Amino acid sequence: MAVGVFDSGLGGLTVLDALEKRLPDVPFVYYGDNAHAPYGVRDADDIFNLTCAAVERIWAEGCDLVILACNTASAAALKRMQETWIPPNKRVLGVFVPLIEALTERNWGDNSPPREVEVKHAALFATPATVRSRAFQRELAFRAIGVDVEAQACGGVVDAIEDGDLILAEALVRSHVDALLRKMPHPDAAVLGCTHYPLMEHVFRDALGPEVSVYSQPNLVASSLEDYLKRRPEMLGSGTQRKFLTTGDPKRVSSRATQFMRRSITFESA
Ligand code: DGL
Repeated sequence: MAVGVFDSGLGGLTVLDALEKRLPDVPFVYYGDNAHAPYGVRDADDIFNLTCAAVERIWAEGCDLVILACNTASAAALKRMQETWIPPNKRVLGVFVPLIEALTERNWGDNSPPREVEVKHAALFATPATVRSRAFQRELAFRAIGVDVEAQACGGVVDAIEDGDLILAEALVRSHVDALLRKMPHPDAAVLGCTHYPLMEHVFRDALGPEVSVYSQPNLVASSLEDYLKRRPEMLGSGTQRKFLTTGDPKRVSSRATQFMRRSITFESA
């Protein structure tokens, strides 16, 4: 009954953590493509090919359902995967839709026409590839009207986090928030559109100030998956083993993961 969780690196552990808390009986197979991170500076074809290779490897662990925790893969590759590549007995779901449903006060599967919502000025913090894809604006436009979106590509933050340099990551987050606030001085909502950013959530909140509602994905994705599995229990695969796979150096990745999540995590080679 295993479910797969994919990320380009370690950031998806923030999503995995929320999933394991919400669904303690489900064995999750986590796959971090650390050898190829960051994805945020790659082109769409590259992200598509790497994500497909990772998802195939996760399917081999008996997971018919894979969550793309990675926003960059969700934004740049998922639509193409769903339209051209995923066989009918498998599912791959992304992380943008649960976030946008929360922002637009919708329940899952509410396909009514776009309407006005409370949020009027939304700031999106994401990787360069996610910002370039405009997937966030596209999904938002299906559900809401009159929301002004200002996107900030947060170059360097993912590399700093993957390298364990949290001081640099904090400095970069503060400068990206400054840059965003120069373009949009009074956002009422801010979306942390990258799996790595919850590790810096306190810095985003501090730099944005108390007036801004911060939307962070892990809990939103967990409640959305819980809901999905209630409706589609047959998508729990045949796997029984919880696992952490990486394309990087398992020793180095395990030690970083343990540092970030403050619990012991042991990766094996993918
Ligand atoms: N984990 C990816 C995301 O959520 C970003 C990291 C990367 O650039 O690889 O967008």
